[in-house]
Amino acid sequence: MTSTTIVLFLLLTSIVILLSSTSSQTLPPYSGFQGEWRLLQTSIGISAMHMQLLATDEVIIFDRTDFGQSNLSLPGRRCRYDPNDTVLRVDCTAHSILYHVNTNTFWPLMVQTDTWCSSGSVLPNGTLVQTGGYNDGDHVIRTFTPCLDGTCDWVEFPNYLSQRRWYATNQILPEGRIIVIGGRRQFNYEFFPHSSNYASSSQNFFSFRFLRETTDQSENNLYPFVHLLPDGNLFIFANTRSILLDYTQNHVIKEFPRIPGGDPRNYPSSGSSVLLPLDENKASIEAEIMVCGGAPQDSFSSASQGTFTSAVHTCGRLQVGAQNPNWIMEDMPIPRVMGDMLLLPTGDIILINGAGLGTAGWERGRAPVLTPVIYRPTEHFVGRFLVMSPSSRPRLYHSSAILLRDGRVLVGGNNPHTNYNFTNVEYPTDLSLEAFSPPYLSDEYNLVRPSILSTNGIVRYKEVFWVTFTVPEYLSVNVLSVRIIMPPFTTHSFGMNQRMVVLKLIGVTRLTPDSYYVTVVGPSKAEVAPPGYYMLFMVHAGIPSSGTWVNVQ
Ligand SMILES: *[C@@H]1O[C@H](CO)[C@@H](O)[C@H](O)[C@H]1NC(C)=O
Ligand SMILES: *[C@@H]1O[C@H](CO)[C@@H](O)[C@H](O)[C@H]1NC(C)=O
Ligand SMILES: *[C@@H]1O[C@H](CO)[C@@H](O)[C@H](O)[C@H]1NC(C)=O
Ligand SMILES: *[C@@H]1O[C@H](CO)[C@@H](O)[C@H](O)[C@H]1NC(C)=O
Repeated sequence: MTSTTIVLFLLLTSIVILLSSTSSQTLPPYSGFQGEWRLLQTSIGISAMHMQLLATDEVIIFDRTDFGQSNLSLPGRRCRYDPNDTVLRVDCTAHSILYHVNTNTFWPLMVQTDTWCSSGSVLPNGTLVQTGGYNDGDHVIRTFTPCLDGTCDWVEFPNYLSQRRWYATNQILPEGRIIVIGGRRQFNYEFFPHSSNYASSSQNFFSFRFLRETTDQSENNLYPFVHLLPDGNLFIFANTRSILLDYTQNHVIKEFPRIPGGDPRNYPSSGSSVLLPLDENKASIEAEIMVCGGAPQDSFSSASQGTFTSAVHTCGRLQVGAQNPNWIMEDMPIPRVMGDMLLLPTGDIILINGAGLGTAGWERGRAPVLTPVIYRPTEHFVGRFLVMSPSSRPRLYHSSAILLRDGRVLVGGNNPHTNYNFTNVEYPTDLSLEAFSPPYLSDEYNLVRPSILSTNGIVRYKEVFWVTFTVPEYLSVNVLSVRIIMPPFTTHSFGMNQRMVVLKLIGVTRLTPDSYYVTVVGPSKAEVAPPGYYMLFMVHAGIPSSGTWVNVQ
């Protein structure tokens, strides 16, 4: 036999373990281990108001241009000349950086126009499209294509947007387009790219009454929570209400019950929201939305007068496909406004950053919540929330957090002032970057931790692909899964485009005593997983591997 046939022979004769689709996941005990904080950078020169992880393991970070001078110079003594900037017409400092995760280094990027409180999505080919901002930047889109040789930078397209987009929310769509929804006093939505008949079309944006209806005195419906559902419609949550929108027909299909309690959940009463993991191993994929935290109705105005009310302490879960969908409410161990919600590779949710009193919007937050909480959606009711160890740095307004491919959570920002202000203020501008390592990264789990050896770089819809991996100790296939996460564009506590799909597992084959070969089916359709770059993780006994990038197409 040739060596190739020997390998093949071994492969075929090794034990094939077929998986039962009803296998239940059991998590190992957390042993009181509450995760770990590390300071990565004392200063990146800017405040991490917006963050997006790209498929090159670079994080694009930016704040706004009309903040005065940042603590980072533009390279090559370049300066930005902007006669319309409200603070500095000539500014030789950077307001955006590219952070390299693997080397913990960064370099400055150049934004020309104001990106304040804007939105973004990554196209299926890996290019970031950022939309809108303020002042001279509110109709601009900017693209960033990663390049790894240090030469790439923002490219701006002035007047691309038909309406001003300041505090809008984006979502990547199954067809690869991006929808841009709302913005301050914008009760409409539009698309990137414009449809091909844009020039001749009389209508390049679509009115959206729901946003007009949900606005109140404090405009507690900005940065609406938007999630693409497996049926192709959009779930949109604003203030206390939520609807199902068929964006192709500009038609509201249904309205869900209001979230109980009456407290607004969107900016400035910033709570957060995630689409819980979609599981392809189930007979039909159930979509469930979770919303946590926020601030009572009048918090913004009372904070403006110096009274800081307690943040909202509840989360709500809504099974959108149920016959009679109803919110199921739960109490968080700590009330939180301006908390970020991120999907972890395990399918758990981390709540991180934010405040216990007040609201978003400048100095209106107090009592920083330094302690992240991990929520385990599949656990029994009691013990779903795990309280983690605290950071030492407040992360209030204009802070953000994202998941990295190695399973850590990158945290940065805090700038509750109109300028970079480091003195004589209660919460100075914070230019640092930190990483929180959730308990699953602890060495005590290394014996069950899977490591991915290789996989297909491209994952096609419905097509079978494979992943080879190792596990140092005994593999239990009943607690093995393969998942993909689309990394979010995060700002103002909400991760746009964030989603996890647990892929359908077919079988596991042992290759050597500690290495295996697993066959998996690509996502069933683009409504479940829109095309683009995802981090693929294996999770074994509740412990995730490091992720690997795949392009779903
Ligand atoms: C930022 O720069 C200012 C002015 O140069 C300096 O006073 C301040 O210490 C710096 N702050 C940080 C956090 O780097
Ligand atoms: C500044 O504003 C004027 C008038 O609004 C506009 O014509 C011009 O293009 C703007 N300049 C820049 C650099 O944005
Ligand atoms: C992705 O597509 C956009 C829009 O067509 C294009 O501008 C960009 O250069 C493409 N990026 C890559 C990496 O090919
Ligand atoms: C920082 O805030 C303090 C208090 O409001 C103010 O006196 C000071 O001018 C601010 N500094 C900057 C650089 O904006």
